[in-house]
Amino acid sequence: MILLALLLASHALAAERILIDTDCGYFGDDGAALVMLLRSPQRVQVEGITIVSGNVWARSSARYTLEILKLLGQSRIQVYLGAEMPLVHSPAMAEHAHKNWGPLEFRGAFEAPRPSSAPPGVQPMDAVQRLIRTFDANPGRITLVALGPMTNIAMALRLRPDMALKIRRLVFMGGQLRVPGNASSEAEFNFWFDPEAAQVVLRSTIPEKIMFGLDICNKALLDKEGFDRIVRTRTPVTDRFREDFGNRYPGFHKNPKATVSLWDSVVPAWLIEPALFAAPEILHLDADTRFGPSYGKVIPLDRKLAPEAAPVQMMKDLDSAKVLELFRDLLESKR
Ligand code: RIB
Ligand code: CA
Repeated sequence: MILLALLLASHALAAERILIDTDCGYFGDDGAALVMLLRSPQRVQVEGITIVSGNVWARSSARYTLEILKLLGQSRIQVYLGAEMPLVHSPAMAEHAHKNWGPLEFRGAFEAPRPSSAPPGVQPMDAVQRLIRTFDANPGRITLVALGPMTNIAMALRLRPDMALKIRRLVFMGGQLRVPGNASSEAEFNFWFDPEAAQVVLRSTIPEKIMFGLDICNKALLDKEGFDRIVRTRTPVTDRFREDFGNRYPGFHKNPKATVSLWDSVVPAWLIEPALFAAPEILHLDADTRFGPSYGKVIPLDRKLAPEAAPVQMMKDLDSAKVLELFRDLLESKR
């Protein structure tokens, strides 16, 4: 019995404690990332989920996230509602950009009406306070996994700059450097939706910032064949995945030749199997916050402006076949 207890304790010790900040839609890449993380307890222990506007408004995202947690039998995971609006950006600004600087590829929540109320089931504490209290209570022991715009994280850092050094490491999907954007031609969606928040985080002293931008995410593509292999296994999770990827985006049922990046799902693949990834490039990066054609674009950091900024570890390459296999295995799992 003692041996079993020791084994379980060592097993729990091995798992990395993480808090997830997400703009999860109906399912999408955020939903797939949640499934991958929650089905890998030997690697990660999910401490909680904070919600931010991005793909959809935060109140809608909270509802979708609670639905996905229920499908996974993980309703014990606590969900905290965060920023409904980005720090500065707005639908009107996006409309101006669309009309004057070239068509926008994706505007996320800006294209939808704002929900009037939050769903039942979210925690009374807001996401920013949850972030602050989590890292205050566990200095240097919890990893922050950011899968959406960085509004909550920036607000927490501005309220409590000392929080930065209490985050073990930040692992995030966002930005791009040597490839085009996917919201505007210049900027990746998470950074485009809230460039000022991205700038606060990139200029912060968070000791480790591990970036999964479009430069690496564009190399992890799901096609119709991969989609078909997953949906052949009928489970509540793969049914929701099928409805979303099949009918909504990228709409494989109507567009069998489509491909879609795993985007956020690349992050859990690294947390679970880091050996599938090449070494990162170390850079001091910033986000362009000038309201213009490159709003939200990743640019080199002028270090005179943020001399204490910790560098970014920008991930550039992966074994895409094995990452896709891990993606499929965890989505298909009947656990
Ligand atoms: O650019 C991809 C990012 O934008 C992902 O996080 C996706 O979920 C959307 O939020
Ligand atoms: Ca996301």
